[in-house]
Amino acid sequence: MNILLLGKTGQLGFELQRTLSPFGRIVAPARAELDLANAQEVSDYLAQVRPNIIVNAAAWTAVDAAETQQAEAKRLNADLPEQLAKYAAVNNIRLVHYSSDYVYSGAGIIPWQENSPTAPLNVYGETKLQGDEAIQYSGSDYLIFRTSWVYSARGKNFMKTMLHLAESKSELNIISDQFGAPTPARLIAQITALAIHSKLKTGLYHLAPAGQISWYGFAKEIFRLAGKSIKVNSIQTSDYPTLAIRPLNSRMDLTKLQQALNIQLPNWQNQLELTLNEYLEQ
Ligand SMILES: NC(=O)c1ccc[n+]([C@@H]2O[C@H](COP(=O)([O-])OP(=O)(O)OC[C@H]3O[C@@H](n4cnc5c(N)ncnc54)[C@H](OP(=O)(O)O)[C@@H]3O)[C@@H](O)[C@H]2O)c1
Repeated sequence: MNILLLGKTGQLGFELQRTLSPFGRIVAPARAELDLANAQEVSDYLAQVRPNIIVNAAAWTAVDAAETQQAEAKRLNADLPEQLAKYAAVNNIRLVHYSSDYVYSGAGIIPWQENSPTAPLNVYGETKLQGDEAIQYSGSDYLIFRTSWVYSARGKNFMKTMLHLAESKSELNIISDQFGAPTPARLIAQITALAIHSKLKTGLYHLAPAGQISWYGFAKEIFRLAGKSIKVNSIQTSDYPTLAIRPLNSRMDLTKLQQALNIQLPNWQNQLELTLNEYLEQ
């Protein structure tokens, strides 16, 4: 089986290279071999590789930069998934894709369900939603995993930023009114492998660890587990203006995926401990 993996240099793509390897031959072009911003290059590559499954972990993930580079963000997050889904539909193959909690409005405190209304607050969220909708309308056999607050022992993420800052600062101000579930890329990759193996039914599923926390609470737990004594002050989103507006409520209901795979997703604290240990052991 030919598995086309896009975005292998990203947090999730890196983990997927390991978890997908038992399923077949992984073809994973880096940017220098295939520029995903170029639609013609992508269709030529698909015609040449003729994959049996496409796993798309590539995306434009620079949330603030998406506000000013809208065309580039749209190409990666909306047009590319549409192109892949059309190919998957015509060739009768499965497409696995990843979406974001940023498609929701962030209102309230109730966890979002897969059929909750979407109302993105920023360009990144809008483009991710366009990608999801294009895949859903394509008629392809797709899996979309909508996840949140991705981090890992590699790449650029909140956990690593906190640990770097702890080297030079004695005090940090962290936002305490945005809630979600920090999700290790490795967990997403493991569940992706399970879903492929168990032929999970076509559809969109939330995928994150169980439980919820604010960035402030997440930071405190990172420092506690890493044995760093740093003072963490709680601030509000309004105290830390950014180009792109962030949702306050990124809580996601996990029932659909847990029932479909007959699993219990582990809690975020357990996942942080594993990911932090992996990072510290490197
Ligand atoms: N990060 C989060 O907090 C978060 C939250 C919710 C959902 N998600 C979703 O989860 C998925 C994985 O995210 P991630 O954090 O693993 O992303 P990431 O680390 O930013 O990786 C993105 C990948 O896309 C590739 N890419 C981007 N533009 C490209 C281009 N023009 N040509 C070729 N490759 C290109 C990057 O390649 P280079 O290394 O060459 O740049 C990289 O491999 C994405 O769908 C994302 O939207 C992420």
